[in-house]
Amino acid sequence: IMPKVLISDSMSNVAQKIFEKNNIAVDVKTGLSEDEIIKIIPEYDGMVVRSATKVTKNIIEAAKNLKVIGRAGAGVDNIDVPMAKEKNMIVMNTPGGNANATAEHAFALIMSLLRRVPFANETTHKGQWEKKNIKGRELSKKTIGIVGFGNVGVRLSNLVKGFDMEILVNSKSLESRKKDYPHVKNVNFDELISKSDIISFHCKASKDGKPLLNKEHYKKMKPTSYIINAARGNIVDEKDLNDALNENLISGAALDVFSKEPAKENILFNNPKVILTPHIAASTSEASIVVAEMVANQIVDYLLNGVKKNTV
Ligand code: MLT
Repeated sequence: IMPKVLISDSMSNVAQKIFEKNNIAVDVKTGLSEDEIIKIIPEYDGMVVRSATKVTKNIIEAAKNLKVIGRAGAGVDNIDVPMAKEKNMIVMNTPGGNANATAEHAFALIMSLLRRVPFANETTHKGQWEKKNIKGRELSKKTIGIVGFGNVGVRLSNLVKGFDMEILVNSKSLESRKKDYPHVKNVNFDELISKSDIISFHCKASKDGKPLLNKEHYKKMKPTSYIINAARGNIVDEKDLNDALNENLISGAALDVFSKEPAKENILFNNPKVILTPHIAASTSEASIVVAEMVANQIVDYLLNGVKKNTV
């Protein structure tokens, strides 16, 4: 009999087309509640999500026929992976599929901070000519610190190569592949935060949910430094960041991710030193097609041929 797949988050319709072409039945049902998913999930052999669907223990327990859960994207923190493994389900993601998009957005945030583009735009539209009040900073001769050196961190390091910057990295996995990246220097976390003018996070959040950056760290940082987080919201404690900005321990921050998403309220809202975007780093026309294609092809290959690719 024909395997059946549920796509439960909105994504490029190339995913649906790939399933159909391979004679896999597919339903696209987005915005369902946990209870609604629990009711229908026993019908399915595969499930495809982005980040909106929380694949909980309850859903996994109800999913009697589910063999594979695919994430169109990198982070699988919305999936109860240990529980899925216990039930012998495969969890896959699409590493690298949106890495360039995310690195480019991090770079856009960096430039927005350094040249105050959002403020300049808003005031100029209002007819306020703030020319005298806006003095930017340059990247040239500065130090960028990249925390985490996976697909996104590597890509960002390559993007900034042309800017005459020193590139510091904090990564455990870099040691063994150092010779491939002669343009970066691997340092410990404290050295990275104390020497960098721009600190950009491209790592996973810690398993226990503890932030990587907290109160104590800001005292070691340059008062002229900026923080970028386009990885996961809980990496940077938002209250500590807000305090650090208000105490002038650092100059500014740009965040694409939040401790609670969608962010309807947040301690950082209206802080003029902060630039915020709504988790859009991976949201490009190009990347959304690539991740949908990758996840659909991988699930097809697993359901039809037992091939396991990009399992987590
Ligand atoms: C990811 O983990 O791939 C990103 O959070 C992108 C997303 O799905 O929004």
